[in-house]
Amino acid sequence: MRFKWDETISVKIRKFDDQHKKLIGYLNDLFNAMSGGTGKEQVGKTLVSLSNYTRTHFADEEKAMSTHAFPGYAKHKKEHDAFVTKLDDFQQKHAKGDMYLTIDIMEFLQGWLIQHIKGTDKLYSDYLNEKGVN
Ligand code: FEO
Repeated sequence: MRFKWDETISVKIRKFDDQHKKLIGYLNDLFNAMSGGTGKEQVGKTLVSLSNYTRTHFADEEKAMSTHAFPGYAKHKKEHDAFVTKLDDFQQKHAKGDMYLTIDIMEFLQGWLIQHIKGTDKLYSDYLNEKGVN
């Protein structure tokens, strides 16, 4: 269940690889909070941390893509926006007590993030590298 960053998901830009490692760390924290029986409050706090850091990371990627006029920017941003909406929804439901985070949701978050890095983020690697972003 727990995921580790490795070279196969490198996007060849140091800053974004580091941010992805941190995001994976937050996912693991969330998993630990859930499975460790630390209670709803801790799960909620971890979810907020994951959500905040996701926004920071997405904003940084979007800035790099838009600064360098990456052609796939709009499509990429749409994926980010949809994920943030989903995170907000989980967070609100969790805060209201409507929903407890389940393994299914964890798997959704983890699956989405890894697929996004492998499938969508990697599309900017060569383009941004050529623009001097490494
Ligand atoms: Fe690394 Fe597009 O998120």
